Amino acid sequence: MARSAERGRTRVALLGTTGSIGRQALDVLAGLGDAFEVVAMAAGRDAERFAAQVAAVRPRAVTLADHDALTRLELPAGTVADGSDEALVAFATRDDVDLVLVATGGVISLRPVLAALAAGKIVATANKETLVAGGHLVMPLARARSAEVATRAGAGDPMASPLAWLRPIDSEHSAIWQCLVGESMADVARLILTASGGPFRNLPAERLVSVTPADALAHPVWRMGAKVTIDSATLMNKGLEVVEARWLYDCDYDRIDVVVHPQSVIHSAVEFVDGSVKAQLGLPDMRLPIQYALTYPRRLSSRAPRLSLADLSALEFGRPDVERFPALRVAREAALQGPRATATLIAADEVAVRRFLDGSLDFPGVARLVGAAVEHFGAAGDREPGLEALLELDLEVRTWCATASVAGAA
Ligand SMILES: NC(=O)c1ccc[n+]([C@@H]2O[C@H](COP(=O)([O-])OP(=O)(O)OC[C@H]3O[C@@H](n4cnc5c(N)ncnc54)[C@H](OP(=O)(O)O)[C@@H]3O)[C@@H](O)[C@H]2O)c1
Repeated sequence: MARSAERGRTRVALLGTTGSIGRQALDVLAGLGDAFEVVAMAAGRDAERFAAQVAAVRPRAVTLADHDALTRLELPAGTVADGSDEALVAFATRDDVDLVLVATGGVISLRPVLAALAAGKIVATANKETLVAGGHLVMPLARARSAEVATRAGAGDPMASPLAWLRPIDSEHSAIWQCLVGESMADVARLILTASGGPFRNLPAERLVSVTPADALAHPVWRMGAKVTIDSATLMNKGLEVVEARWLYDCDYDRIDVVVHPQSVIHSAVEFVDGSVKAQLGLPDMRLPIQYALTYPRRLSSRAPRLSLADLSALEFGRPDVERFPALRVAREAALQGPRATATLIAADEVAVRRFLDGSLDFPGVARLVGAAVEHFGAAGDREPGLEALLELDLEVRTWCATASVAGAA
């Protein structure tokens, strides 16, 4: 792991400190003590929470997307505010940063992630857009970093793997990563992503049209930010994770399966060519995958609660129902079209979820709107857009989706 030689610490830039993942990341980092130092912190608009975090952590540099609120922040001695539009890129590439932990939503962190990898920093990401929209840009950089290590230190070095440079925090991808340590992708028959099935797993199709945002936000297992919770209810989240898995593990889509597992104890699994299946288990708590992404290749004691197998009464499994939850099918179809379509998918989904939450779209309308956007934008133009074209596409798709009417508009 990259560490500052003089201090023996891993120095972290944390993007998105105030959200669900960001708060848990700070908790994990506090539990890891002196081995880590948070050097730079960024958040969006929650200035009150951010101010309390900054006072507790005392980083060297901070930024808020809300620049006015940033100027009003009372900062500890030694902390500097960066109110520029390039602050995230600047934080991700600072000389005194070894690892960038990405806990923002949306494509806002795509540019900083690319800059960080190009500058030789480790990236640990919970953010899905980084891979769903930009996997074709991000993974070559992670592969280049790992190839350099392989040349210098040998293929057995823990950093001689793209996953050591682009570390997944999503619990499913962390699980697969942990299952693959010491294995070769050539020996993998398929990756098995588990899905909780969300709050409507057993609801008849005709009742899905009248579910409310409050119903959809009441996830039976996970406590997460609103966007990912709604994605979990539509199963779009699993579709996005299929795309993430394709990039992280360089695996064909037909070798990535989804299995519904309501207890979310098995976070995902890998089936090998000999029929053996390895799975990673744990209680549904994001602190564990966050910590693994920070401490890889080591394991350190954790604050997360422990799983007791003896106390588990039953683990259930089933196939996803793509008739009731078509978002998974929409995502897979976009995936087969390539990066332009998946960038459209994730941008459209963000707007569709917002429209569901503000009442201008009903629940089935989310998948319909996203499907319509993929149809409208997915095939036109360059199938593998560069960064600037991707960011333009993201804006274009969001603008279109904000007013597009599809059957299912409330
Ligand atoms: N939550 C989970 O358990 C979970 C699990 C797996 C994957 N993920 C993924 O992880 C990512 C984050 O999820 P989340 O649930 O933590 O989201 P969230 O609670 O909505 O948090 C998003 C964070 O991004 C910050 N942010 C927004 N715009 C920003 C900007 N321009 N510059 C800097 N920071 C900005 C927000 O700041 P303010 O709050 O201050 O506006 C907040 O700190 C998503 O991609 C999600 O899909 C989440």
